[in-house]
Amino acid sequence: MACTVEPLVIGPHRIWPPLVLAPMSGVTNRTMRALYKPFGLGLTVTEFVSANALQYASSAKRTMEMIDQHGLEKPVSTQLWGDDPEVMAKAAKMVRECGADIVDINFGCPSPKVTKINGGSACLRDVDRCEAIMQAVVDAVDCPVTMKMRLGWGEDNLVYVEVAQRAQKVGIQAVTLHARTAKQFYKGNANWEHIKRLKQSVDIPVIGNGDLDEPYLAMERMRESGVDAIMLGRATLGNPWLISQIRDLMEGREPAPMPSPAERLAYAIRVHYKTMVEELGESRAVPQMRKHLALYLKGIPNAAILRERIMHTDRAEDVVAIVEETIASLERAVAA
Ligand SMILES: Cc1cc2nc3c(=O)[nH]c(=O)nc-3n(C[C@H](O)[C@H](O)[C@H](O)COP(=O)(O)O)c2cc1C
Repeated sequence: MACTVEPLVIGPHRIWPPLVLAPMSGVTNRTMRALYKPFGLGLTVTEFVSANALQYASSAKRTMEMIDQHGLEKPVSTQLWGDDPEVMAKAAKMVRECGADIVDINFGCPSPKVTKINGGSACLRDVDRCEAIMQAVVDAVDCPVTMKMRLGWGEDNLVYVEVAQRAQKVGIQAVTLHARTAKQFYKGNANWEHIKRLKQSVDIPVIGNGDLDEPYLAMERMRESGVDAIMLGRATLGNPWLISQIRDLMEGREPAPMPSPAERLAYAIRVHYKTMVEELGESRAVPQMRKHLALYLKGIPNAAILRERIMHTDRAEDVVAIVEETIASLERAVAA
């Protein structure tokens, strides 16, 4: 069947399908990236990593873990944040040595923890600094460098076209736009008109991001804006099948139907939960998996009660028992 879109090309990487998992701090660790990749992702991005923290990496086990890879999820883009061009360049060299296929620069994070020290989206308040950071990182590594940003700091500061044009000038090889301002955080809607305008303003690949939560909508946004790839974030949590459905459309097929509630929970507990516990250990996996299970439970009868029980359960085997009991009751209901 004929594919409906082209691969995303970033330097030597021919990425198929042009479907990218959004970097999500506290979520897209190497286990998650490897679990989600087979659903049909072309590219995954690490959680954002502080360039400053990497300077002290020998003492920061967690930071090193953040840049670690599974192998399965290659190519991997490692995302860095920071406001100092020299520190960013050093950090880029380091993550490249640790196996990054692509280095991504974060000009998008709106969290006060990051912006109060001029990182993430705060960089967009100083376009010259953005350029200096991008130039330093491009000069430091022998792999493609990309950049992810928001529209600007606020409505009165929509600098995305200028920053992307400077990115192109210094050798950045692709740019992702989450079409909200920093001040917006997650309020309102992502404005895809801006993504379309960006695509028309630069020659490097553009990846569109924001509020894609349904396969046909995602394809329509991609077509209308003309972007080279789309990036999915929140809507994939508890629903990795969205990724497969979009890949189906990209490969010219009807999207596969959603698995049944029992099948979804079976994946959540027998694959996702089990792998997280094996790889992260019970004490880290149990709290991390609470938010994932809460999302997998969406649309399941008595979800609120089940979520509440899971929230108050600390042992992995008890959580497994609760979910397995739910799967059995869903299967009995179908059989009856
Ligand atoms: C929990 C969470 C953590 C995030 N962490 C990062 C991050 O580390 N780096 C980044 O560039 N964006 C981060 N983002 C933003 C997402 O990559 C994405 O741009 C945003 O969620 C919009 O896409 P969506 O509507 O598909 O979720 C994060 C978003 C969420 C919800």
